[in-house]
Amino acid sequence: MTAEPRLPEGAARPALAGVSPYEPGRPIDDVRRELGLERIIKLASNEGPYPPFPAAIDAITRAAGEQRLYPDPGAWALRDALSANLGVAADRIVVGNGVDSLIKLLCLSLLDPGDELVMGWPSFVSWRQGAGIQGATVRAAALGADGAYDLDALLEQITPRTKLVVVVSPNNPTGGAVGTAALERFLERVPAHVVPVLDEAYFEYLPAGRHDGVALIRSGARLVVTRTFSKAYALAGLRVGYLVGPPDLATLLGRVRNAFDVNAIAQAAAVASLADAPEHLGQRVAEVTVERGLVDAGLRALGFDPRPSCGNFLLIGTGAPERAARLNAALTGHGIIVRPAGAFGAPDALRITIGRPDENAQFLMAMAASIRDTATD
Ligand SMILES: Cc1ncc(COP(=O)(O)O)c(C=O)c1O
Repeated sequence: MTAEPRLPEGAARPALAGVSPYEPGRPIDDVRRELGLERIIKLASNEGPYPPFPAAIDAITRAAGEQRLYPDPGAWALRDALSANLGVAADRIVVGNGVDSLIKLLCLSLLDPGDELVMGWPSFVSWRQGAGIQGATVRAAALGADGAYDLDALLEQITPRTKLVVVVSPNNPTGGAVGTAALERFLERVPAHVVPVLDEAYFEYLPAGRHDGVALIRSGARLVVTRTFSKAYALAGLRVGYLVGPPDLATLLGRVRNAFDVNAIAQAAAVASLADAPEHLGQRVAEVTVERGLVDAGLRALGFDPRPSCGNFLLIGTGAPERAARLNAALTGHGIIVRPAGAFGAPDALRITIGRPDENAQFLMAMAASIRDTATD
């Protein structure tokens, strides 16, 4: 028998030894194959509960026939539409293959081995992964009691080696959001050698009057903002997000990015979604907010104490990592996929994405049954 082919000894970059692969929420087909269940409800990756906006679906269909050609590498139509929508020049906007790829590009462009990225924890693990890939160090600050970033604690972690400080707000997985005044004070105090980033993946779900990173940029704040079409715009499958920052950052990222990293269908769908947003976005966000309240109440009735959330998800502590694992397995057995939050720094917790009303009702029934199923374990 021949030996299994292997990389030569020492071929892998040493920095990668400490990097864990991203653990996504389980795909529906995966669970269906394993359990043979007819109906599977996925509440595991904070996707929007409904299909893309109608104009986006039309644009996707129309673009299908043009896929012989490479996409526009500069994503001009999308950057122009975003520029008009956000009130910032197109040369300050970079679109990416999801915010996830923009996180990697930022880390690739700014972090050398030994440099530092400062962030809160528990939080969105891709920032930690992006720094780790570069051989950079993550300095993590504890969150506030409300599950939002503690901006004073974050400032305390900054050292002369810090290159990036990241604020995820609303924070994934806890759902807490920082206050606008606190954010402005924080930005004034971030040392000049550090690039502050505000990850607003769940911006659309923020209640009125909360922070708007792009408005801060318009009024002169030194800041990079990331946002995505994956959540409230329901385009997670197409992978498209964007960043707003100084023009020299956009130029820098242009040196390291792949030429055609945002496909043409995604670009067309995102442009159409922006045009359709005035008609659909507010209504969808309002429904998620109402449903989040109902799921919150249902979980409380079952004895949990969900964190107050400004996102389209809720985080519940279960008391212990083993209990989280047992409840997760029991929920899966009932056809409900939620997200164990261990990789995000909360090993005893489960994160539940808000789905459609029928899905949420089904989830709460499955949770009640899972509590009974696991009571005697
Ligand atoms: C806080 C946060 N930032 C960024 C992302 C990445 O989004 P995208 O789908 O655009 O890669 C997510 C996705 O879950 C997220 O929760």
